Amino acid sequence: MTQHLTLRRPDDWHLHLRDGAMLAGILPETARDFARALVMPNLVPPVVTGDEARAYRDRILAALPAGADFAPLMTLYLTEATDPADVIAAHRAGLIAAVKLYPAGATTNSASGVTDFDRVRGVLDAMAEAGVPLCTHGEVTDPSVDIFDREAVFIDRVLDPLRRATPGLRVIMEHITTSDAADYVRAHDTDLAATITTHHLIINRNHILAGGIRPHYYCLPVAKRETHRQALRAAATSGDARFFLGTDSAPHADAAKESACGCAGCFTATNTLPILAHVFEERDALPRLEGFTSLHGAAFYRMAPNDARITLRKGDTPARFPARIDTGAGPVTVFDPGFPLHWRVDATASADPSAT
Ligand code: DOR
Ligand code: ZN
Repeated sequence: MTQHLTLRRPDDWHLHLRDGAMLAGILPETARDFARALVMPNLVPPVVTGDEARAYRDRILAALPAGADFAPLMTLYLTEATDPADVIAAHRAGLIAAVKLYPAGATTNSASGVTDFDRVRGVLDAMAEAGVPLCTHGEVTDPSVDIFDREAVFIDRVLDPLRRATPGLRVIMEHITTSDAADYVRAHDTDLAATITTHHLIINRNHILAGGIRPHYYCLPVAKRETHRQALRAAATSGDARFFLGTDSAPHADAAKESACGCAGCFTATNTLPILAHVFEERDALPRLEGFTSLHGAAFYRMAPNDARITLRKGDTPARFPARIDTGAGPVTVFDPGFPLHWRVDATASADPSAT
């Protein structure tokens, strides 16, 4: 039996697009299914100023396939030298949608991030005042903290004190991986939300390590134990508007992943929506998929949802997806959920209902 599901065109509230040949190679994978994406600023060097965000946005627009219905939403990379006035001006001008906090050294290209949180107090106060959201990579970098505990410790040591010190600051806990993070979001009902990735709904830490090491399942924050994956599935499919999709699709050329010191990142842009449909169907939550992919994030960012629609169709035979995307910067392996996907995106160019 064929099933259809029509949704408002989704948004991805956490995406890595890179630059140059990699950008050109992978951008069509997101632009095909998504209307907007919040683009991470962790280039080398990072996107720190409004002018840099404008230039990066122009490079993304120039790389879009002809006729694509996709808008990049830009972010600034918070450093201890960030000028509050520049952030506020960029936000007022509609150039940026958020500012991204990376604790220095927490993940890929985070060397310019924050070491001393007191040094960014002025920027955070100005953001709270002006309503500029802060996206956080929520992991401490203290080497004495076990990598599987770094998210939970970040909440206690950094996030909670930071939110108390900056009332009114709107915070998105990005790519949460623990029940601790989901519980923290639920316990605080204003000015706080969380994104959840596609891959953290599928893999737990055993997938990375049991029966051989799987570099394409390695990402940061690293996947945790099964109880946490179940907590994320429950949060994502709950209908609670504080949880929404941010894929953290993070392309690295295969040679950089399949290495003695492999990079962190799962590339899920190509098959994210079929995977999500599978997960939501498994939990009897298909009617709540649209909230997660297309409504909750826009509401938190105070933007209108998209008018255009996409249709997902479930077929009897598994859908086929490329194993890798060839880019000018090398092949990028597409995330393998480990089971056949029967859902596929039917027609992304389907109409703006007001036009019919
Ligand atoms: O797995 C990840 N990859 N996590 C991050 O936080 C950064 C990202 C990247 O840029 O590759
Ligand atoms: Zn990321």
